[in-house]
Amino acid sequence: MAGEAGNIKVHIDNVKKTYQGKHGEVVALNGVNLDIKDNEFVTVVGPSGCGKSTLLNIIAGLLEPTSGEVICNGHKVEGTGQDRGVVFQQYALFPWLTVQKNVEFGLNMKGIKGEEAESIAMKYIKMVDLEKFRNHYPKELSGGMKQRVAIARAYAANPEVLLMDEPFGALDAQTRTQLQQELLDTWEKEMKTCFFITHDVDEALILGERVVIMSARPGRIKDIVVNDIPYPRNQETKMSPRFLELKNQIWAQVYQEYLEIKK
Ligand SMILES: Nc1ncnc2c1ncn2[C@@H]1O[C@H](COP(=O)(O)OP(=O)(O)OP(=O)(O)O)[C@@H](O)[C@H]1O
Ligand SMILES: [Mg+2]
Repeated sequence: MAGEAGNIKVHIDNVKKTYQGKHGEVVALNGVNLDIKDNEFVTVVGPSGCGKSTLLNIIAGLLEPTSGEVICNGHKVEGTGQDRGVVFQQYALFPWLTVQKNVEFGLNMKGIKGEEAESIAMKYIKMVDLEKFRNHYPKELSGGMKQRVAIARAYAANPEVLLMDEPFGALDAQTRTQLQQELLDTWEKEMKTCFFITHDVDEALILGERVVIMSARPGRIKDIVVNDIPYPRNQETKMSPRFLELKNQIWAQVYQEYLEIKK
């Protein structure tokens, strides 16, 4: 059990997931084991369809594993919980709520209301630089701004574990870089356990303390690369020899998996 290990926040124990699809069974995950430490930033890369989202949804409690289990904070995951916050690729904002109210939403769910909710929400709206837009509605914002609201909302609810499924995937390179930096700075200030999925090896390396490489379907963990580049990291880090060395190492393995899919 994770609780016994002390600093293990999320314990993924032999998780398997089989979907019953229209065209028969799909084995999405075939025995995934992983321990994520308290306040650790873990990133996950792997080819499309290898089961990354499936794994994240199982940790979030949105999906049940076919066998195996996830232990979070010493308790078996059996549904969603306030200890875990999720940021999806598509900004899941409420269109009828303003930026401010969207960010307050998670707080209200926790019973924090009124001025207290307002001031906590404001702190995170400032963090993502959207003060001027706090009374705007999602449809009045760009994609990057909407994603910043989703991040502010996840942070404001103060989950112990932040689960992010390609949150910057749909954004242009510049916005993406900016949000990576904001996320890094925030993580360094307010350490949380982060589980972050991406297609982008650079993104995985600039953010993560460990990079988990998943194999092609059925998804398993192929390798875990320890990223020893110290924090604080910034965009210049991407030019460092160590970064390039690790990038090549990860990329070679990911590429092998892409070839595997094409077979
Ligand atoms: N509800 C479902 N029913 C049947 N099969 C599914 C279902 N959801 C996912 N799958 C299959 O399970 C596999 C893993 O899907 P998943 O979405 O976890 O992959 P992924 O690694 O997140 O891919 P991507 O990088 O494209 O987001 C895929 O082959 C997919 O087709
Ligand atoms: Mg996915």
